[in-house]
Amino acid sequence: MSVIDEVKQGTDIVAVIAQYTTLSKAGRALRALCPFHSEKHPSFFVYPEQQSWHCFGACSTGGDVFSFLMKKENIDFGETLRLLAQRAGVTIPSKLGKDPEKGKKERLYRVNEAATRYFHSQLLSSPLAEKARQYLTNRTVLDKAITDFQLGFSPNSWEALKRHLSKMGYTDDELLDAGLIIASADGKAHDRFRGRLMFPIRDDRGHTTGFGTRVLDDSSPKYINSPQTPIFDKSGSLYGINLAASAIRQLNQAVIVEGYFDVVIAHQYGFTNVVASMGTAITDKQVNILKRLTGNLVLALDADSAGEEAMLRCVSYENTLDSELKVILLPEGKDPDDVIKENTSTWQELAGRATPVVDYTFDINAAKLDLTTASDKSLAARRLLPIIAEIKDMVRQSHYLQKLASLINVSGRNLEAELRKINGAQEKRLSKREILTPRPISGSLLSNPLEEYCLTLLLRCPELKEQSESLLPEYFDNSENREIFLAWQQVNPDISQLRDKLDASIREHLEVIANKDIPAGQIKQKYIGCILNLRKRFLQNMEIKRAEVLLSERELGGTAAELAKQEEQGIEVKTRLLEIFIQKTNKG
Ligand code: UTP
Ligand code: MN
Repeated sequence: MSVIDEVKQGTDIVAVIAQYTTLSKAGRALRALCPFHSEKHPSFFVYPEQQSWHCFGACSTGGDVFSFLMKKENIDFGETLRLLAQRAGVTIPSKLGKDPEKGKKERLYRVNEAATRYFHSQLLSSPLAEKARQYLTNRTVLDKAITDFQLGFSPNSWEALKRHLSKMGYTDDELLDAGLIIASADGKAHDRFRGRLMFPIRDDRGHTTGFGTRVLDDSSPKYINSPQTPIFDKSGSLYGINLAASAIRQLNQAVIVEGYFDVVIAHQYGFTNVVASMGTAITDKQVNILKRLTGNLVLALDADSAGEEAMLRCVSYENTLDSELKVILLPEGKDPDDVIKENTSTWQELAGRATPVVDYTFDINAAKLDLTTASDKSLAARRLLPIIAEIKDMVRQSHYLQKLASLINVSGRNLEAELRKINGAQEKRLSKREILTPRPISGSLLSNPLEEYCLTLLLRCPELKEQSESLLPEYFDNSENREIFLAWQQVNPDISQLRDKLDASIREHLEVIANKDIPAGQIKQKYIGCILNLRKRFLQNMEIKRAEVLLSERELGGTAAELAKQEEQGIEVKTRLLEIFIQKTNKG
């Protein structure tokens, strides 16, 4: 199977598009406000069965998941493929990975690696790092942890790192891009991190993507992190993931803490399935990184209000993970760092008593309210029912409904009625779970014989170029075929020029198509037949799609004008189909 097919098989268009707009059910399709143009009435449709989309509004265009991302992110086919491959966990063979951005990223990884080594060796042996070594000793960080995490020290100098990396051949631009130096007003640039303890932040492949840094005293700012760069996004990173991944997989559980020191100390004491969110709120990206390793997440966040809020937001991640999310309740004012150092068995005990996040939410609400009063009872119901409504597992949902009923001492039946009201309001909206559960992509969506046959004819018979006005790009459903067609339109009918125009990942596909056999003779007739078939298929598909639109318009009680417009366009399609029928009859 080609890489493109592999990526398609691992990608569900619904999950991708759901990241850009809110989809609602509309028969067998899904509809939404168009993510490309602003509108009040949703005219954007996604068709899960065909893995395609179409905007019947201002855009009046559509395609597959590739064309969606290309348009939305303004990137080319190759970049889109890499993006989707990453998402689907498909490795792209390096021969296809020719990407100018990639070269640049590789360079940034390398400069970060060089900086990591520099800071680390400073910490180990520079006389200027004595205070840093002392600081780590005071916090009982041992040599092994310093080595494992490659902890470092940035000398208190404006140019120490810059000079070191320049000597190694890195340019100022590269250092700026990596966020290691800062441009100053006089046009010069100086080291960003000075006199600080350095925590290299690595991705799951072990690349240093950025740094977290701490002062050695109580001054502020306590922590400064690398800025956003082409390879660093703090909210999408997990500190310690490179060292924790295998333990997470083995133990089938990940523990998420907040801070750098929490991770370093946890690992030092043998709790190696621990990573840090580096702040409070856990993001979708972070959950997705962990989801590849385990479905069981345990959050050990500070018992302050920020932590509580983060936990509240995590309820919805349970549906994403398809399993229960748990919470470790830390003693007031203590970090995992403190708890573990004080007594490892306390930590183990806490971890053993991790509370399911929904129960935790119950607890904090109960603690804040006076549930003997009618007004607080109703407040509790208003806060907790929407959370219960979100739970997809019926047994768990009913468990928590009963729990709420007894908490506020109200009959379960009344609550059920309330829950149904909420569910009714939410029914039309897709749940995260529905969106994130990949559906098997039918094999027929992978290759597209008709499109490919047409392209083979075009590639093998240069003379056909003159008769191609009636062949339109949108007749090609598969983006890679559409790309080949678009490139072919632009160049002389010469395969090698075409090859140069196309992304490396499509070239493989091009070779296959160009080398297919075609029966000899009557090329022109075959070609015209091909165009007619493609157009017929295109119009029929439009008709099917439009039928969904009409259905959903009626259901939504769409405006008469909107309905009329759709009907009118439907008639137009039917007229064109009839024309094709006549043409074909004449031909035959
Ligand atoms: P904390 O302020 O709780 O720090 O922030 P900490 O980890 O307990 O630090 P120590 O123990 O005093 O050294 C928790 C985490 O949030 C991120 C860091 O990853 C930090 O470890 N953070 C915090 C920042 O990135 N920037 C900040 O300004 C504060
Ligand atoms: Mn701490």
